[in-house]
Amino acid sequence: MLFRADCLDLLTNIKSNTVTLAFLDPPFNLGKSYDSSKRSDQIATEIYRGWCRTWLLETIRVLKPGGSLFLYHWPRWLMDFGAWLNTVESVEYKAWIALKMKNGFPMKKRLQPAHYGLLYYVKRGGLPRFNVVKYKSPTCRHCGKLIHDYGGYRDRFKPYEDNDGIPWIGLSDFWEDTRPARHDKARKVKVNELPTHIPERVILLTTEPGDVVLDCFSGGGSTLQAALMHDRLWIGGDIGTSKSSLRRIATFFGTEETSPSSRKLLGCFQKPFRDALNQLEIRKKRPILNVRKLTNIKSLRNGEAKSRVFHLSKGNNSSDRKS
Ligand SMILES: C[S@@+](CC[C@H](N)C(=O)[O-])C[C@H]1O[C@@H](n2cnc3c(N)ncnc32)[C@H](O)[C@@H]1O
Repeated sequence: MLFRADCLDLLTNIKSNTVTLAFLDPPFNLGKSYDSSKRSDQIATEIYRGWCRTWLLETIRVLKPGGSLFLYHWPRWLMDFGAWLNTVESVEYKAWIALKMKNGFPMKKRLQPAHYGLLYYVKRGGLPRFNVVKYKSPTCRHCGKLIHDYGGYRDRFKPYEDNDGIPWIGLSDFWEDTRPARHDKARKVKVNELPTHIPERVILLTTEPGDVVLDCFSGGGSTLQAALMHDRLWIGGDIGTSKSSLRRIATFFGTEETSPSSRKLLGCFQKPFRDALNQLEIRKKRPILNVRKLTNIKSLRNGEAKSRVFHLSKGNNSSDRKS
């Protein structure tokens, strides 16, 4: 379900303890404008901090006990939010993930920023979901050989080799392979779309098919696409135009809509809002029918996933690949 909505308006209408994963990639307060309205996202630091804390608390409220919260930002703000989240009793710190950035330009009298970050917290009071996720060991794009030297441990990865002999290795808290892939050329820089691999990896790590994923800054829809690809239910929202998200969905999954949406998804909303949603009729002139599909894109449904869930088989330590 996709809403054009302010994040706080959307969150207010969601019931407590209903969402399994919240993935949040908010405006960074850098003075960017995200859509044709030319609205700048820059506000005073204190106001920005207070605004972010408000939706963070609301997000924690709607998470199920054991549910996961991922916050994407740059280090200056992650330090601020992390220090504060550590004082919020209802959540527990899990990790700070550093994601390698595309090579930027050297900056005068400053260290060149080379990573963004993801803060990972879980809501206390329930068993968090956590899947073993592996990624393909990085290779040289010229010679195809492994970039990392696993030394004496190379044989350990033999059971996880692809047909081309490249091993899949367990995720750490440093993601070096999440820069835009070739098919992501259709990304709209204006809305700062993330490479799909980032939300996809988070979804595989912390949810199962049928779980509810929430992104209330869904922008160009990378989280929504990743959730759909892996059969998760999703609630997306953005204050700006929904066109980019709808284009993605139309391109990869088609323009068909269902109404009313799944009971489980509707069950996430407060009753008056749910009743209003139930009244909605899908008529002919729906926005998704008016978007132009992305061109020059091969199917991205499953083939190119950069991350896979591995399930431990009972009785031994070996794993078999699932998705
Ligand atoms: C960094 S972008 C998110 C990009 C998204 N993760 C993607 O991959 O496409 C931040 C988004 O937050 C939206 N936004 C800004 N203020 C908002 C608000 N008050 N409520 C909801 N969305 C807001 C912007 O329109 C923008 O699309």
